[in-house]
Amino acid sequence: MATKKEIYALELTPVKKAEDIHFKNPPLAFFNAVGGEEGMKELMYDFYDKIYESDIAHFFPQDEAEFDEVKFKNSKFFIQICGGPKVYEDETQGMELNEYMIRIHDDFSITEKSRLEWLGTMRAALADKAQHVDIGLIQEFWDYLEKFSKLTVNTFADGSTYYAAYTQAKED
Ligand code: HEM
Repeated sequence: MATKKEIYALELTPVKKAEDIHFKNPPLAFFNAVGGEEGMKELMYDFYDKIYESDIAHFFPQDEAEFDEVKFKNSKFFIQICGGPKVYEDETQGMELNEYMIRIHDDFSITEKSRLEWLGTMRAALADKAQHVDIGLIQEFWDYLEKFSKLTVNTFADGSTYYAAYTQAKED
């Protein structure tokens, strides 16, 4: 079990340009505790509903059918990255899952500010949909998101761009 207060206390740390990122993929125990494929889908659909109310809504498709497609693919990704069924496998064009995830974000100018908004939105979705999950498991899921999301930031405050190499993703 987790309280909203505990979930909102999950920590955010700042990105540093070009640093290596050490992270672990989220545990299968989180996937099971959140409610398997159905539970994960519910969490991610809630996340995207909140994205549309957020400061980063403009990054995402405004067309409803395209938006549904992103919601659906996003849910499949999170099912697989937690060690659940490999339902996202066919999307990765032969790349390793995390490598594909870094590269798919290259098409968007993602700043630290948008990363923090993305994480804040996810934290709100967890507070609404994951209170039945043990806080330790939520923490592990969060650690993956908080760290991995640094590799999606490609546009910096001084106006420069830097696209993370897959070799900077250090899966411990
Ligand atoms: C842990 C960090 C993140 C993960 C795991 C993640 C995961 C994903 C996934 C699974 C998709 C769908 C890919 C597909 O089409 O198959 C996606 C798309 C996208 N993500 Fe992320 N994301 C992360 C961080 C971010 C951040 C920080 C932003 C900031 C704005 C962002 C913006 C987007 C956008 C704009 C799309 C594409 C929407 C479209 O297809 O038009 N993501 N992401």
